[in-house]
Amino acid sequence: MARPWPRQPRLIAGNWKMNKTAQEGSALAGQLKGLLGTTRRCEIALCPPYPALESVAAAVRGSGIHLGAQDLHPEPKGAFTGAVSGPMLSAVGCRFVIVGHSERRHGMGEDDALVARKARAALRDGLTPIVCVGETLSEREAGGTADVLVRQVRAVYEGLGEAEARATVVAYEPVWAIGTGKVASLEQAREAHQLVRATLDRVVAPGLGQSLAVLYGGSVNAENAAALFGEAELDGALVGGASLEAAGFWRICAAATPR
Ligand code: PGA
Repeated sequence: MARPWPRQPRLIAGNWKMNKTAQEGSALAGQLKGLLGTTRRCEIALCPPYPALESVAAAVRGSGIHLGAQDLHPEPKGAFTGAVSGPMLSAVGCRFVIVGHSERRHGMGEDDALVARKARAALRDGLTPIVCVGETLSEREAGGTADVLVRQVRAVYEGLGEAEARATVVAYEPVWAIGTGKVASLEQAREAHQLVRATLDRVVAPGLGQSLAVLYGGSVNAENAAALFGEAELDGALVGGASLEAAGFWRICAAATPR
């Protein structure tokens, strides 16, 4: 089973999406390792595409930078053409795996039930799932944000034991903020994070919400990171576009100072 992941220090996870070859990924990871030096102000995870996992693992070895994948298949092995399983990710050195990213929920038809199966598979295989939840613009405009967040959190956490739940991380990613340059306001992020925590308390065990890391994702960059991390509810960030360039990503990590 995956180990518990604490709220502090903050976690900055770079989701490279479908960017960087193995060689490019290794170069970027090497640059980051150089920039970060030995002073660690936060925990860092890089989530490259599958073919770059091995070269990035080699590039960050000894640096304390964690490796993560962007998705996994719920089954450990079998006839699932094109899919990659949890044991394969663990074997290449992954600590984390993103599940339920909105680009998979909305772009590739993943429903709550599949996301829940993937989160359980990650836990089974010793990986820490970064469980993404978040409302679309139309859901927000229709006043449905709370319902969507509660439904998505419930789907994954209902039936999980407290120890299992403690080995997960949540990422609140409003879909309208992803890749759009429109970052959520501190108030919007705070409200969503508090709702996620309250839902975890109800669904799994009282007090769980306060002990779980809840990241924010959606247009985080070097310019807005310091303001975002002024909000104590943010236990880190899931960073897409701004994780593809070392200097900018490093500035986000530097802004995530310990509280
Ligand atoms: P973005 O993506 O930082 O490019 O908005 C975040 C994400 O999709 O995880």
